[in-house]
Amino acid sequence: MLSLKEVHSFYGASHVLHGVDLEVKKGSVVTLLGRNGMGKTTTIHSIIGFVTKKQGEIWLEGENIISLKSHQIAKKGIGIVPQGRRIFTTLTVRENLTVFAEQDKGNWDLERIFDLFPRLKEREKTHAGNLSGGEQSMLSIGRALMRNPKILLLDEPTEGLSPLMVGEVMDVLLKLKEKGMSMLLVEQNIATALSIADDVYILNKGEVVYHDHPNELRGNMDIAYHHLAIS
Ligand SMILES: Nc1ncnc2c1ncn2[C@@H]1O[C@H](COP(=O)(O)OP(=O)(O)OP(=O)(O)O)[C@@H](O)[C@H]1O
Ligand SMILES: [Mg+2]
Repeated sequence: MLSLKEVHSFYGASHVLHGVDLEVKKGSVVTLLGRNGMGKTTTIHSIIGFVTKKQGEIWLEGENIISLKSHQIAKKGIGIVPQGRRIFTTLTVRENLTVFAEQDKGNWDLERIFDLFPRLKEREKTHAGNLSGGEQSMLSIGRALMRNPKILLLDEPTEGLSPLMVGEVMDVLLKLKEKGMSMLLVEQNIATALSIADDVYILNKGEVVYHDHPNELRGNMDIAYHHLAIS
């Protein structure tokens, strides 16, 4: 569905990604782990064309999109849940969901979003700035779904949330997985990543230093802790 081959990315003279190889198969959930500043967001931004100085190949359903502009890539069906949510705080929940929604492009509409997120239905008319962090995360996911993406890229959707809210957001992502949604999920928490992943990658200084199935990783936690420098 989506694959990166030997991707190098730069900010000016600063070389941040050093040959990243990564694959998200259709219907699977891939998690990308790594400490702060290791290049997780840069990987996402390289895929969606926010980072323009790049080398390598980025394949989306048989087309190499690495040279396309971000607005062209957006039309190809890549949904983005950005780091920090980036919701419109002065708009209501409903307005956030509908403002950039793609009409007649697929299955997702307000009713289905509210089925998936009953909390958002309850707060439909609330200004998004008054939502809790967990609700804002759900809104950001809902907004991405309203564009009917083929694949979702989620950049730390559970960042800064209480354990209870992390659980709620992950339950929603598990439901999306059951519905067959392909996802690339950036995470810092290894337990959260393992709760949903079909495949796990660890980035360190812009390089993939580990890639395996979660079951293998569970048996190799010392390696993961080494790369994530948790002790
Ligand atoms: N716009 C930018 N210009 C220059 N350097 C940048 C820019 N954005 C990120 N960087 C640098 O690129 C490296 C990777 O940053 P990136 O944001 O991809 O990390 P990350 O893994 O997403 O971290 P975090 O977990 O904190 O979100 C860091 O050294 C960062 O300082
Ligand atoms: Mg980041």
